[in-house]
Amino acid sequence: MAEDINVGVHQDKESRYEELWPQLVGLLENEQDLIAAMANTAAALHSVFGWLWVGFYRVQHQELVLGPFQGPVACTRIGFGRGVCGTAWERKQIQIVPDVARFPGHIACSSLSRSEIVVPLFNDHGEVVAVLDVDSADLNTFDNVDADWLKRFVELLPIR
Ligand code: SME
Repeated sequence: MAEDINVGVHQDKESRYEELWPQLVGLLENEQDLIAAMANTAAALHSVFGWLWVGFYRVQHQELVLGPFQGPVACTRIGFGRGVCGTAWERKQIQIVPDVARFPGHIACSSLSRSEIVVPLFNDHGEVVAVLDVDSADLNTFDNVDADWLKRFVELLPIR
């Protein structure tokens, strides 16, 4: 049986990431099903940080298709180069968007979303196979601390 994620209320997010890290490692070790691992990753991040939306889109037949997530219902399909997610896929780079209103082509799945970070997931050939998308109801939520930690977190996922 899975144990609850237990992370204290800290002032700084670095401490939360540090506390969450070993718990996520424990949660994901021995799990070879990508969807199951993505689902628990989204749930853990959502519960610890309280962000508006945390979830994955997987590359399926040249589109990003909605995968496991926590938060309000979202767009199901995103094209290559479209929105923040499609841009992260096209450029193969993490996208940090301090204010979504200033990102040309941003796809507003929820009107409450104000800032966003998208982290691409790669296979062994360096191809993007999915993205992690995190949306916040506040402006300027994400920075390089989030980028570094979220990149480490998604590298735990069983991508083959
Ligand atoms: N805002 C994203 C779309 C996905 S939803 O926010 C969950 C984008 O511009 O790619």
